[in-house]
Amino acid sequence: MAALIGVLAGDGIGPEVVREAVACLEVVGQQRGEPFRFETGLIGGAAIDATGSAFPPATADLCRRADAVLLGAVGGPKWSDPEAKVRPELGLLEMRAAMGVYANLRPVATHPALYAASPLRPERLEGVDILVVRELTGGIYFGRKERTADSATDVCTYTREEIERVLRMAGTLARQRRRKVASIDKANVLDTSRLWRSLATEIFRTEFPDVALEHVLVDAAAMHLLSRPRDFDVLVTENMFGDILTDEASMLTGSLGMLPSAALGAGRRGLYEPIHGSAPDIAGLDRANPCGTILSAAMLLRHSLGLAAEAERIERAVFTAIEGGHRTADIALPGQPPCGTAALGAAIRTALAA
Ligand code: IPM
Ligand code: MG
Repeated sequence: MAALIGVLAGDGIGPEVVREAVACLEVVGQQRGEPFRFETGLIGGAAIDATGSAFPPATADLCRRADAVLLGAVGGPKWSDPEAKVRPELGLLEMRAAMGVYANLRPVATHPALYAASPLRPERLEGVDILVVRELTGGIYFGRKERTADSATDVCTYTREEIERVLRMAGTLARQRRRKVASIDKANVLDTSRLWRSLATEIFRTEFPDVALEHVLVDAAAMHLLSRPRDFDVLVTENMFGDILTDEASMLTGSLGMLPSAALGAGRRGLYEPIHGSAPDIAGLDRANPCGTILSAAMLLRHSLGLAAEAERIERAVFTAIEGGHRTADIALPGQPPCGTAALGAAIRTALAA
């Protein structure tokens, strides 16, 4: 039977960018003569409004049945009261945990057509090709939380198993690339980082002797990402550091709106989402950049459906459209009117059909 793709548009710009990505997948399905099956579900604020829960049982069920899940974004001012009982973001975290997708692949590659959109000088951006592997279902995101009137606690816990499996994923991926891994931690302060560092040393010595490992403290890594981005190949790190460093790294590519991600676990099933948020300030205005979501759809084809050639065709189509001058406001060239979300999506599909 044709592959089933769960589609969770979510909040803010989510529906607009997901619409464009699904349309690209439809083109690929038609070209293959076997259309994908799509089934939509509720997540985040939209799910809270409809059901009271940010990750309702029907969505959990869809995530179990689907071959892959494509997600837009969650959250917005409507649901961000600090006293609120349920939050959209919690739905996303529950879903990542329920799907067991512990490794989040966030590729950061620069492209000449987007050098002008980056705040960094072009000579720094040339040849940058980084794959961030962010641990996604552990650490401070998932530890015990407590709040009283005048104190609050977020516990950061990691087990050996949680660390080892994501390190192995990074090592395995490095073998398909330049065989270099930078393990990012804060081992000068945190015990979780000291455990992480010793396991990294051990695993790469015994299981990946052909991969070069360096340890970098997270504060230094934040700097090195700007001063020597070209030196990095695979970068592996814990949940929170990975969240922060990838927003920073996205500016190498020109815009946060460009970056896709794939969240993977033990099997082939994955969760695919742009790394950006719901951008409520531009929601519904046809201004969001759909590329991060469309490139996430390409990762979905590659990692969950085994369609690498089709994935590459989407990736090429994205850059063909951008090179052709179809650029949303976040990547627009000075003096040129930006193109809308739908128009950029249409230009990408035209390139895809050509
Ligand atoms: C991301 C986002 C999420 C995260 C939020 C929305 C919970 O920032 O995917 O990077 O922190 O993981
Ligand atoms: Mg983030």
